[in-house]
Amino acid sequence: MKNKIYYVCSNCGYQSAKWAGKCSSCGEWGTFEQEEEVSKKSKKLDLKKRPKVNVTKLSEIESSDDFRINTGLKEFDRVLGGGIVPGSLVLIAGDPGIGKSTLTLQITKSIIKHDPLYITGEESLGQIKHRASRLKDIPENLKLLAETDLDKIINAISSDECKIAIVDSIQSVYMDNLDSTPGSVVQVRECTSRLMQVAKRLNKPIFIIGHVNKEGNIAGPKMLEHMVDSVLQFEGEKEYNYRILRAIKNRYGSTNEIGIFEMTSNGLREVTNPSELFLSNRKDAAPGVVTVASTEGNRPILIEIQALVSPTGFSVPQRTTTGFDNRRLQMIIAVLEKRLGANLFKHDVFVNIAGGLRVNDTSTDLGVAAALISSLHDNAVPRDTVIVGEIGLTGEVRNVSQIEQKVKESEKLGFKKIIIPEINKSAIKSNKIEIVKVGKISSALKEILK
Ligand code: TYD
Ligand code: MG
Repeated sequence: MKNKIYYVCSNCGYQSAKWAGKCSSCGEWGTFEQEEEVSKKSKKLDLKKRPKVNVTKLSEIESSDDFRINTGLKEFDRVLGGGIVPGSLVLIAGDPGIGKSTLTLQITKSIIKHDPLYITGEESLGQIKHRASRLKDIPENLKLLAETDLDKIINAISSDECKIAIVDSIQSVYMDNLDSTPGSVVQVRECTSRLMQVAKRLNKPIFIIGHVNKEGNIAGPKMLEHMVDSVLQFEGEKEYNYRILRAIKNRYGSTNEIGIFEMTSNGLREVTNPSELFLSNRKDAAPGVVTVASTEGNRPILIEIQALVSPTGFSVPQRTTTGFDNRRLQMIIAVLEKRLGANLFKHDVFVNIAGGLRVNDTSTDLGVAAALISSLHDNAVPRDTVIVGEIGLTGEVRNVSQIEQKVKESEKLGFKKIIIPEINKSAIKSNKIEIVKVGKISSALKEILK
């Protein structure tokens, strides 16, 4: 019988019986690759011929949570949910050159007694040696394998010499019996699925490294995300040295956590006090610049927001954001126009999160509103003030979570005043920082821009 031919989009994994120039699912051009399906005869269901299965009682299963392995990097452990879980398959995804290989090579230092095996399909052993000498303290007895054939890789992982495997990268490995080239959707999917089986059967953790494409999707198939236990995204801006490790999926922990690192000439360094990283050192106040306390993961981080409001030359004014949700900005502008009569409709608005961080915490709303009005009226917000509060559509300042931590962090970094929502029934008191409670945006802005 002839094998069935079908086409797969290398960007999103969409399958189609016919070739097309443009993928109807993700809209990318020229991404369809031909695949061949090996037809298998489906068996009839026969309840008399039952294969043996072993059912286990819950009480008989050993909990694996106590066996988490620490990576030696607290920031990394936090994102993993407290360390490496035996038998887990973790995908570390990120742009080429962001530092994935550096990060994984660095953790071998602390896990060396757990027999890690670093499998490289992209670099020669000589290149790894060169990197290791830059990173310092990478153990001399670290085992390495330069291989791209998945069968051989699985053989190596199955041996006693390997208890934790790192596969760098999933796009470079291939299965011999598949026609497609390494890095194609089918290869990546099949290789990942095999590695998942290996991890589970042998109860050995496996890290796979994956490059992301220009849209930020994990190269080729988004479906890879569904196959693995955890997906850790390693991201950063080209102009800055810091890197953020973000859990976007985690079967063994929270997806809120982030780990922050700095790329130095000797590898990645953990950043334990991120607020200092995201605040500029400027002491004097400038219109449109405010400090907010955003909760990233479970930590409060003080961040500088910059806004520029300037008269527009277009009939439809521009609203441009970097690091802040554009729709959220539109909402804040609408509230300011409707409830405060601010005439922002004749102005272009730019909002920038300093340092290139992406902020999702809605407690930064009030800070953004203050930055806009501050820029509009050319009236600077004092540098020693932190602004916290979510904005409601009726013009009220809504409550936010983790207010105590935000106040404490602001106090720790020497700020003198913090604006918080009145509705937050916190009894927090401090003699180092003035806490001002506000109920409406109008009264908040009066307090901030005296
Ligand atoms: P790498 O780990 O090779 O990235 P990836 O595996 O994600 O492609 O990191 C490469 C970049 O990191 C490269 O631009 C050089 C830089 N780097 C440093 O700045 N310091 C170092 O100690 C190392 C090893 C790399
Ligand atoms: Mg690499």
